Amino acid sequence: MYHKKLKPFPKDFLWGASTSAYQVEGASLTHGKGPSCQDVKELPEGTSGLEVCADHYHRYKEDVALMAEMGFKVYRFSISWSRLLPEGTGRVNQEGIEFYNNLIDECLKYDIIPLVTMFHFDMPAALDERGSWSNPDSVNWFVEFAKLMYESYGDRVKYWLTINEQNMLTLVGPVIGTLHIPEGCTNEIREIYQQNHHMLVAQAKAMTLCHEMVKGGKIGPAPNISLVYPATCKPDDVIASQNANAIKSWLYLDMSVHGVYNNLVWAYLEENDATPIFAPGDDKALKNGHPDFIGFNYYNTSTVEEYSLMDMELQSTKTDQQNQNGEKGFFKSFRNPNLGTTEFGWEIDPVGFRGTVREIYSRYRLPLIVTENGLGAYDTLTEDGKVHDAYRIEYLRKHLEQIQLAITDGVEMMGYCPWSAIDLISTHEGAVKRYGFIYVDREEFDVKNLDRYRKDSFFWYKEVIASNGENM
Ligand code: BG6
Repeated sequence: MYHKKLKPFPKDFLWGASTSAYQVEGASLTHGKGPSCQDVKELPEGTSGLEVCADHYHRYKEDVALMAEMGFKVYRFSISWSRLLPEGTGRVNQEGIEFYNNLIDECLKYDIIPLVTMFHFDMPAALDERGSWSNPDSVNWFVEFAKLMYESYGDRVKYWLTINEQNMLTLVGPVIGTLHIPEGCTNEIREIYQQNHHMLVAQAKAMTLCHEMVKGGKIGPAPNISLVYPATCKPDDVIASQNANAIKSWLYLDMSVHGVYNNLVWAYLEENDATPIFAPGDDKALKNGHPDFIGFNYYNTSTVEEYSLMDMELQSTKTDQQNQNGEKGFFKSFRNPNLGTTEFGWEIDPVGFRGTVREIYSRYRLPLIVTENGLGAYDTLTEDGKVHDAYRIEYLRKHLEQIQLAITDGVEMMGYCPWSAIDLISTHEGAVKRYGFIYVDREEFDVKNLDRYRKDSFFWYKEVIASNGENM
């Protein structure tokens, strides 16, 4: 659809950016914090540990001041579960409570709204030992953690996100380092979707509790949502893309918004003898939890083709958050020839961003906030302390242009929080895969001095925010 005139970004549009605790904070085993599954997992070859990261734990004041200089209206960060509750439940670490008190207050000092993710890939290691999300008690563990956060911060934090990329935890958990399969498991799909069910119930309860405990509190999910295209206009490819969209995206949003299982996914689970067991009260809890908005991460679309019964084995393509294999009998992945890729092989599709935003809004009719979007690259710090990341500016500009088109299409957009505010550690590709507006001077294994530098994209984004999206 072409528009003669574009609508402006809304006046109160929330410009900002995102980080997550385990990727940015450092101090991963000090100051009373218990280990999380990220601290005890086997590190991908050639990548550093999480003891330092960007040292946000000690430098948050400097970092928030830089965000304020860019003009941020919002800062999305996550709270580390095992920093507040070192064993996951029970004993509270006051130093952890204080750290987030200080971070929140620092944001508010500059009128930056804290947008808090409750869970970003970092299950306390002590709870991993008790079975992680496979244990039905995980729902209560999460509710205990949620209560503690609402009690401690609900007076000042009014915007909450539940679980970051629950769909990726379910689809590619081993790459992220989070999947826990109990010994003796005979049906992995059933196990994975039972864990997923526990997360869905935990999320629904956390949403209900937020509305009860946080005056004026608003809460939403934060899955990774992007359209899945059919490889061709062959009707069977279109059916495969519907399957893939359901399993990747709609399962999570149908549940968060309506409290029901997507019928295509349910059929897939039945087919695999993998439907989850509902505990008493689950159905009611799922229907009671309602989001106020939808947060979602977008990096790129994907493409699939029909899974023919002749295909005995799935292709062994690279798997991570943006590259998934197919699902036997359901769909098969396909490389889209129309799209370029980043240095790290992720496809780039700004137009697909508009398509995704339009689709989410027409399905759910709730305000949308982009909680991640960005370009991972090998940046270079010049001798005079500059980072010329024109490629990142181009990526972000093209995506923002599509958001403005979507706004003109009638989509209610609340805000944009690209990944990431500052350089941090990637999920499985280390410190050298950088996303930030702020460069952190460190190498993969040599943490150097961790000085901060403003990249070219820092100055560009500052102008975008100051002009409320007019000067891109
Ligand atoms: C998202 C995650 O999947 O993608 C982030 O929510 C992650 O935690 C981001 O860092 C970029 O992915 P990666 O693998 O390049 O770090």
